[in-house]
Amino acid sequence: MKAKELRDKYIEFFKSQGHNHIAGKSLIPENDPTVLFTTAGMHPLVPYLLGEPHPGGNRLVNFQKCIRTGDIDEVGDATHCTFFEMLGNWSLGNYFKKEAITMSFEFLTNPKWLGFSPDLLSVTVFAGDESVPRDEESAGIWRSLGIPEERIYFLPRKDNWWGPAGQTGPCGPDTEMFIDMGKEACGDNCRPGCSCGKYFEVWNDVFMQYNKTEEGNYVPLTQKNVDTGMGVERTIAMLQGKETVYETELFQPIIYAIEQKVQKSYGTDAAVTKSLRIVADHIRAASFILGDEKGVTPSNLGQGYILRRLIRRAIRHLRKLGAEGKFLGQLARVVIDIYKDAYPEFLENQNKIVEELEREEEKFSSTLQKGEKEFEKLLPNLLKNPKKIIPGRLAFTLYDTFGFPLEITEELAAENGMIVDREGFEAAFEKHQEASKMGADKSFKGGLADHTDKVRQLHTATHLLHKALRMVLGDHVAQKGSNITAERLRFDFCHPDKMSPEEIQRVEDIVNEQIQKKLAVTQEVMSLEEARAEGSIALFDAKYEEKVKVYSIGDFSKEVCGGPHVENTGEMGRFKISKEQSSSAGVRRIRAVLEE
Ligand code: SER
Repeated sequence: MKAKELRDKYIEFFKSQGHNHIAGKSLIPENDPTVLFTTAGMHPLVPYLLGEPHPGGNRLVNFQKCIRTGDIDEVGDATHCTFFEMLGNWSLGNYFKKEAITMSFEFLTNPKWLGFSPDLLSVTVFAGDESVPRDEESAGIWRSLGIPEERIYFLPRKDNWWGPAGQTGPCGPDTEMFIDMGKEACGDNCRPGCSCGKYFEVWNDVFMQYNKTEEGNYVPLTQKNVDTGMGVERTIAMLQGKETVYETELFQPIIYAIEQKVQKSYGTDAAVTKSLRIVADHIRAASFILGDEKGVTPSNLGQGYILRRLIRRAIRHLRKLGAEGKFLGQLARVVIDIYKDAYPEFLENQNKIVEELEREEEKFSSTLQKGEKEFEKLLPNLLKNPKKIIPGRLAFTLYDTFGFPLEITEELAAENGMIVDREGFEAAFEKHQEASKMGADKSFKGGLADHTDKVRQLHTATHLLHKALRMVLGDHVAQKGSNITAERLRFDFCHPDKMSPEEIQRVEDIVNEQIQKKLAVTQEVMSLEEARAEGSIALFDAKYEEKVKVYSIGDFSKEVCGGPHVENTGEMGRFKISKEQSSSAGVRRIRAVLEE
């Protein structure tokens, strides 16, 4: 079964079970201060898991593009990908364990769908701990479906708990489904979750019934939700009997193009195979980031820096394989061809993807060679160091002068049996530039945006600000990014010039006037066309025939948005712009606060 058929079947099955097919969302999370990319199918649905009504109803199905860069060092092994697609079905306070498990069982075992023999199915459920009880209910449902006791495993939190995506947010116990691949057990302790290859994890049903707070408490959610996740790449590899995801139709054309270029073959030599996988994975992820509806370009900040790291690491491995000259644009066209039907935004943005990759390739290729030469020159001396540590200062010089992301220096170091003093690198970095520039990695450790009163207030203030900017500066102003913490809002928008103090003052005055008017904030669900016809600001086009939510603030502003917002602007305090600066070419950035 190919990826297209798997996606289609999944959507069709859940539609037949009363689910609404909703569009996947951008790879760049909206209003989420601490996570750079969408990391799971549930990620864009967080507000709805926390209780905000979804315009598509409470039984939903989708496929979602995701990026996880935490695994970047593991890319190149059999299963880890930076980019992956996740299939998911969702109950937002509608069905719970019984229906979720029964539907999963049906999709896995009915010959009309995936058709696995129930005899091959093992499952795991949460064993319970001091804060959450043992999940006897899920085990009972599996038993009632005919799964015998010896194939139901009760496992601890580290195995059978999912979320939150960051440090706070919706989470809960899960039940995971495994297919027996027919291999011998590797020992007495071999069980689902074992890495020997006997058990393949095909699906995960999460029962999201808790909200983890900043203090680390698990507060029961008023609404009990289901979040399930099935990874497309891994599942089709298994269904096709392939050893790894790289042998499926989602990667083979990319790998073939590289093989042709470098005249080396996949599967003949471990180092060659690994480099081929890394290039294929990274160019696929980079193409998705560049081609996203909220596309990012390479830079030294945030998502742009991750993108740069992916592209530069791919270039380095291409050079290792012996490739010369421009090649990334050609590779991106192969990626676009694979995905253009499932992700139409790819075709729209194909020129941008190719141009940006070629630009970055040009920039980095010439310095890469010089940097590697420099590294080789230094190597004999470095190897004399008995601790085999490369000083952070040196790693920083390679970054600063040759554009080597730290990971490339680490990779060169590892190839020579050394490690880099990361702390020393960061210290040198911070000394040299503003601390914020390395925010990229740290951001992954944070939690999802919370939905406290302050965040709601700042979210409503963001809509007021957006409208006020359009009134003062003109209708060309459009949101390029929004990021809200409990302390402040940050808003990026297109505008060519620095704002004058008078313009800033006028924007502040307009926003504060609306706050003082104590305007009611209301929401309606409608089609995107209706929303547009009513003059709503609609930032990112919904796909398919989706319904959208429109938030109105009195008669002042109307915007398509997922929420949540305050009920009345009177709850908000005094609006103050604390900073106005350039974000990138043609894009300005405002930071603002609400004072008590
Ligand atoms: N959120 C869970 C996961 O990512 C299930 O979708 O595995």
